[in-house]
Amino acid sequence: MVEPLRWKSAEVVLELGPGTGAMTRELLGFLPQDALLLAFEVNPDFVRYLRGAIDDERLQIVEGSAETAAGELRRRGIERVDGVVSSLGTTLMDEMLVDSVFRGIAPFLDENSTITQYQYLSSVRWEGVRPVNFNVRSVLDRYFQAVGSNIVWRNIPPAVVHECLGSGAPAAAGESQPLAPYARPRAGPAGADFP
Ligand SMILES: C[S@@+](CC[C@H](N)C(=O)[O-])C[C@H]1O[C@@H](n2cnc3c(N)ncnc32)[C@H](O)[C@@H]1O
Repeated sequence: MVEPLRWKSAEVVLELGPGTGAMTRELLGFLPQDALLLAFEVNPDFVRYLRGAIDDERLQIVEGSAETAAGELRRRGIERVDGVVSSLGTTLMDEMLVDSVFRGIAPFLDENSTITQYQYLSSVRWEGVRPVNFNVRSVLDRYFQAVGSNIVWRNIPPAVVHECLGSGAPAAAGESQPLAPYARPRAGPAGADFP
């Protein structure tokens, strides 16, 4: 999940949905001493827990939706982000919200920036009695260069890690994009593709 960032001299990294900080601790384990890890979490209990449990001045936790990331970055005068690590539960989220999160962040990412999104293997959710398939890869493909989608069988339950790079051609902030149908992942260098 955090592997694409491991060898980079990252200055600014966003974490979307840190929860109780499993990924956060991993990231802080290898980010440079002067890096900023800006984490967006909507659950106030998790925010309170993280602020008490992780004492590291590189970590700044914003209590709010990942949708507000672009505004927060502009407010801080940050123009570029090295990496985004998202474990937002996108299968259960409204697709428009997921789209809005990545559309907002895209202008801050260039072709050297990495985006990783974790998703459980099953991308099916139930809307009433109707099973609906939503693969976040279809949204990532709108804004980023696909690298690969790899299954991590060792995770319980098995998960898919989608890896992308910034497009280098930022979408205009606030510009709406047509919703694309599910796009079959393209082959990438990072391993076997998610079927
Ligand atoms: C699947 S959990 C992942 C938690 C943790 N990163 C992990 O891997 O164990 C998703 C997290 O995203 C948070 N979340 C959900 N919607 C969000 C949003 N719009 N913006 C920021 N965080 C959100 C939830 O509160 C939860 O902590």
